[in-house]
Formats: sequence, structure tokens, C-alpha cells
Amino acid sequence: MKAIVYTEFGPPEVLQIKDVSKPAPKENEVLIRVHATPVSYGDLLARNFKNITAREFNMPLPLLLPMRMYFGFSKPKVNILGSEFAGEIEAVGKEVTRFKIGDEVLGYLGQRMGAYAEYLCMPQDGSLALKPANMSFAEAAAVPYGAIIATSLLKKGNIQPGHKVLINGASGGIGSAAVQLAKYYGAEVTGVCGTARLDYVKSLGADRVIDYTKEDFTKNGGTSGPTYDLIFDILGKSSFARCKNSLKPNGIYLMASFKTKALFQMLWTKMVGSKKVICTLASEKAEDLVIVKELAEAGKFKSIIDKCFRLEQAAEAHRYAESGLKTGPVVITVE
Ligand SMILES: NC(=O)c1ccc[n+]([C@@H]2O[C@H](COP(=O)([O-])OP(=O)(O)OC[C@H]3O[C@@H](n4cnc5c(N)ncnc54)[C@H](OP(=O)(O)O)[C@@H]3O)[C@@H](O)[C@H]2O)c1
Repeated sequence: MKAIVYTEFGPPEVLQIKDVSKPAPKENEVLIRVHATPVSYGDLLARNFKNITAREFNMPLPLLLPMRMYFGFSKPKVNILGSEFAGEIEAVGKEVTRFKIGDEVLGYLGQRMGAYAEYLCMPQDGSLALKPANMSFAEAAAVPYGAIIATSLLKKGNIQPGHKVLINGASGGIGSAAVQLAKYYGAEVTGVCGTARLDYVKSLGADRVIDYTKEDFTKNGGTSGPTYDLIFDILGKSSFARCKNSLKPNGIYLMASFKTKALFQMLWTKMVGSKKVICTLASEKAEDLVIVKELAEAGKFKSIIDKCFRLEQAAEAHRYAESGLKTGPVVITVE
């Protein structure tokens, strides 16, 4: 089968189309013919992992060593990128009961990756669900990662109907799902993103958008009083100290990306004060994908693609995703 393989860390040019062996499903696995896979934050990070500095690494430093062991120190150990996809089941192992040949599915592989390929195998009880009937493969491919991580983290942030929620990083993989899910939970949502993606975030249903290149959302707390019940920071570009005045009493500062200091702030705010810091890893649950599939079919969850590239154009897709020009998900189609 054809796959996009990289054997060196570096710029988009390291992504090369190659012939590799087609995987065969184990007894509890399904073989999926991949139709589409988006370019995610994780793909861009893993492609150049050797050159990521401790400062650029958005998680506690002690996690950097195991991540380097996993992705490789000088050469990539995971050679095919792609953590989410949409496709069609082509074969099933003997023990598979949840899916059948011909089912159209979407799924999340996480750090295991491997979706930049014509085929992949995954266990039937992995993060896999039927594709929303009203979405194309390209649209569906951009759903699983954001949906799974945002659902899990918003629940940990105790989101409630009527809450005022700010999402800092609303135009990315996690943020675009968080905007829509927060609206679904009945919150009033402010999305923060860069200039080129303001319309995109608005079209996802945000009540208000803030351009972080023009306005500092934390500045609205001091004078006009606390504003939000929940501030969800995706990339860790703000800080609890700066956001505290923008939180209501009992407000929560939720972080998807965090350094060790934030873990101490979480422990400290558990004991002292009414405003809490929550930073945690998301739990991956296939049932969250099923819920989002139902929301999509009810017209309550959208996937608005910016641009599609063919498999052999993977390097171009990465260049475009890193250019700052994209206005929504960038998807690689595998036809
Ligand atoms: N906790 C967990 O379990 C978990 C799981 C997966 C991932 N993560 C973390 O999530 C992060 C990736 O999230 P993602 O996939 O959503 O990334 P992404 O798709 O690259 O999106 C990043 C978002 O951050 C925004 N942004 C960039 N610079 C900003 C700034 N200065 N101020 C405010 N917003 C800014 C971007 O806005 P524009 O593009 O509009 O400029 C975009 O909306 C990583 O740090 C990863 O470690 C955490």
C-alpha cells in the first residue's frame, strides 16, 4: 500500500510517499481503508520532534524524556503520522462484533498514529465509531481528536448550562470542538483566536470572538469585574495569574497544555480560594465519539474544512498548515 513515511525529523520535505506492507487485522481488529486524515498539531510536532526545545514542549518537562523515547531521539521511531481519520471497513478479525465490512467509520489513534496511509488496523474497542451520515469523509476525519479531548476536558471543567465560557485557542483541533460542545452544553461562548480564523470560530457558533493579536482578553477583568465561569486555555498561552481577575468566584481555569508549575497551582487552589486551576490529561472514550456523531447528524456539530490535499501532497499540506494562512482544518485525502 502507499503511505507517507518519514525517516528523518525536519521540515515538511521529510514526508515521502512510499510503498509499505499492507497491515492484516488481528482477531479483534478491523482493517480500515483510509479516505481522509487531517494535519493535526500532533503531526506537526512529531514530524520535527528532535528539534522541539523544552520551552516549546507544552507539557510538564518530566514527560519530555518518555516522549523522546517514544518518537525517537535522532531518528523517528513512529514513521507514519496521522492520529485521526475517516474511512471504510474492508475486513474484520474473527472476534469482531461491533463493526462489519462496508461500515463507514471515523477514529482516533492517538500517539500510535499511522493514518497517513491507504490502510490501517485498529481494535474494535478502540476510539472508533460510525461516521456521521451527513458528513463527507474529509469532514468526518477532522472530528475525532478534537471531539474526544474537548469532551473529556470540558467535563473535567464542570461545564454547566448558562456558564460563561472563554476558549483561548478556539480555532484549533481541540478549540473548534470545544466551542461547539460548550454551546451544546448551554454555555455562552467567547472564542479567542488569530485574525485569519475569526470568521471560522464565529461560524462554529461562538457568541463572541476575540483576536489575540489585537486584544488581551485578560484585561477585561480588572475594571469591569469578573467575567467567566470557565476559561479553557488550549495552548497554555495565558496563565492563571493573568486570568484570575476575569474569573467569577468559583470559576475554573482549565488547561489542555500545562507545565509542572500549573500542577502545583492545581494542588494549591484545591485548598485555598474559590477559583480553581484544573490541568489534566484527557481520557479517550469511544462513547464520546458516538455522542458527537449523533450531534453532527442532528446538525449540532459541524466540520468546516479549509483545504484538502492528496496523499502525495502531504508535505504541501504540512507547509500550508504551518503557514498561518489556514482558516480551518487541513485534510489529506487518500483516494
Ligand atoms: N490535556 C490533554 O489530554 C491534551 C491532549 C491532546 C493535546 N493536548 C495539548 O493541546 C495542544 C494542542 O491543541 P490543538 O490540537 O487544538 O492545537 P492547534 O490545532 O494547533 O490549535 C492551537 C490554537 O491555539 C491558538 N493560539 C496560537 N497562539 C495563540 C496565542 N498567542 N494566544 C491564544 N491562542 C493562540 C491558535 O489560534 P490561531 O491558529 O487562530 O492563531 C489555535 O486556535 C498541545 O499543546 C497539546 O499538548 C492536551
